[in-house]
Amino acid sequence: MTGSDTAWSGDDSRVYSRLADIAVPSRREQMAILITQIRFKTTDAFKLVDLACGESGLTKAIQTLYPKARATALDGSQSMLTVAPINLAEFEDRTETGVFDITAEDWLHQIDGVGLVVLSLVIHHLDSTGKPRLYRNVFNCIAERGALLLVDIVAGRRPSVWSLHANLFDRIAYEQSMTATDSTELYDIVRKEWNIFIYPQEGEMPDIFFDNLN
Ligand SMILES: C[S@@+](CC[C@H](N)C(=O)[O-])C[C@H]1O[C@@H](n2cnc3c(N)ncnc32)[C@H](O)[C@@H]1O
Repeated sequence: MTGSDTAWSGDDSRVYSRLADIAVPSRREQMAILITQIRFKTTDAFKLVDLACGESGLTKAIQTLYPKARATALDGSQSMLTVAPINLAEFEDRTETGVFDITAEDWLHQIDGVGLVVLSLVIHHLDSTGKPRLYRNVFNCIAERGALLLVDIVAGRRPSVWSLHANLFDRIAYEQSMTATDSTELYDIVRKEWNIFIYPQEGEMPDIFFDNLN
């Protein structure tokens, strides 16, 4: 990572790359729902920034649908930033990748005046001070008619929802493991270590979404 105090490591990146399609519920549908919220026409030219892009699957999906969109895909993990440009190679004339630390502010110039900022599964790595600060910074930097779209893990108002989510997370991971690999091997890893509702790791801090907007 950059000089951040995040608990996300290079090892996490490698494990995430292997397990994301199993551990993240309905990953493709999540991405599709986010993309359907983009207000641009598919013929529009606009600038987007993917904050904590990982292997850049979301940037790639948006650039495929929007052939005139220019993208900057940023992440804090060197191993993600090794893979991201390879995945975006077909769009290299309208794509940049780079390192950043979402907890810092020295990268904000990169979202200056842009039409779209996307965030997928990284906000829960910020604490309840960092999340509203990020939203405020994005609001102050992007174009007047720009948008921030995000998908992430959030906390429910009632504590009882937590165990419901824990069970659902496990069941979906099991189904996704069987569908993708006809085996429980990946599910077993997810179940033992990756169910955030049972084993929250250091640096994972989901909040009630609307509490961060006050
Ligand atoms: C769960 S992955 C999500 C990746 C991608 N957005 C996706 O949806 O697949 C979390 C990402 O956040 C990045 N990350 C975690 N903490 C970060 C920080 N402080 N600054 C920048 N990136 C960070 C990790 O490197 C990783 O790529």
